[in-house]
Amino acid sequence: MATHQELRALFAQKPAILAPLEDVSDDVFRRLCRKYGATICVTEFVNVEGLLRGCTKARRKLNLSTDDALTAIQIYGADPGRLAEAAEIAEEANPLYLDINCGCWVPKIAGRGAGAGWLRDPAAMVAMAKMVVERVKLPVTVKTRIGWGPESDMPIVELAKRLEDVGVAALTLHCRTAQMGHSGKADWSWAKKAREVVSIPVIVNGDVKSAEDARRALDETGCEGVMIGRRAIEHPWIFREVRSYVDKDVLLEMPTFDERIELCKEHLIANVAARGEVHGVRVTRRHLAGYLSGMHGAAQLRNRLNTCDTLEGCLEILGEAQRPRPLGDSPHAA
Ligand SMILES: Cc1cc2nc3c(=O)[nH]c(=O)nc-3n(C[C@H](O)[C@H](O)[C@H](O)COP(=O)(O)O)c2cc1C
Repeated sequence: MATHQELRALFAQKPAILAPLEDVSDDVFRRLCRKYGATICVTEFVNVEGLLRGCTKARRKLNLSTDDALTAIQIYGADPGRLAEAAEIAEEANPLYLDINCGCWVPKIAGRGAGAGWLRDPAAMVAMAKMVVERVKLPVTVKTRIGWGPESDMPIVELAKRLEDVGVAALTLHCRTAQMGHSGKADWSWAKKAREVVSIPVIVNGDVKSAEDARRALDETGCEGVMIGRRAIEHPWIFREVRSYVDKDVLLEMPTFDERIELCKEHLIANVAARGEVHGVRVTRRHLAGYLSGMHGAAQLRNRLNTCDTLEGCLEILGEAQRPRPLGDSPHAA
């Protein structure tokens, strides 16, 4: 668990953060992203009702091993008292900090008042955050959107200040409205506006797909950190690319053939060890197309991998991948 001061020191490094991603940002993927430069990782959201009922799936998401230290736990729910109670349970897992999801737009969650549903009643959201902050010792952060939509003047600027006033330690802003879901373009200017009215760290999120995007998002908004979701699923190397460009002004080359194949193997092996063969292979598939993207014969490789349910079979297919010939090594070269 970080103190508020330690968290500030961490945010002074302009962290590149792995977003909370349901069914993706589990311990296996967090470990990979950390290896490739993610400063902080956030767990997938944990349902407070499941947690309070003692549901195994929810409880398992709180297991943080010692090599998973800079990980925050995210919780979601619609009832302030239940969120506060669940926060106490999450605190025992000793995460870096605790994040409250006030940004999930999915109707079955937001429609019940959880996630982005809180944006329909900003006063209730602030009161809920205050209750959670007062219940635990660890820093509490909020991840939200710029508004419910389609307000012309987004509530986020005033809301950011009010959340800071009740002790929220940092704010992550997915720069879309709830009604936008993942459509349209994230408008980072709202992160800049929110950043200007608070002194707590603000993390900008939405549509950061490259090192250049990350630097532009940080420069344009003055935010302390950048959070990356979808691009990391297909390209976890983005974290080292961001670190290199933000810290050293060096744009890294894309990963090599060997690195791409190695990551496919590493992720498959780790997921099979964690989940058993069939499930482990299946959950890794959503990543493999991205890992192989741009490689010679990628589509064919992906199709073969998508129909193979064994680890051994997948490793064999990857072993047969054709390494690109160096220039001048063509059989037709003079
Ligand atoms: C598959 C998937 C799962 C997600 N799960 C969560 C979640 O559990 N908690 C959350 O706050 N946001 C969740 N999000 C939203 C992301 O954290 C992030 O805010 C959003 O994707 C925008 O960032 P990006 O453009 O970098 O992807 C999810 C997004 C995706 C695509």
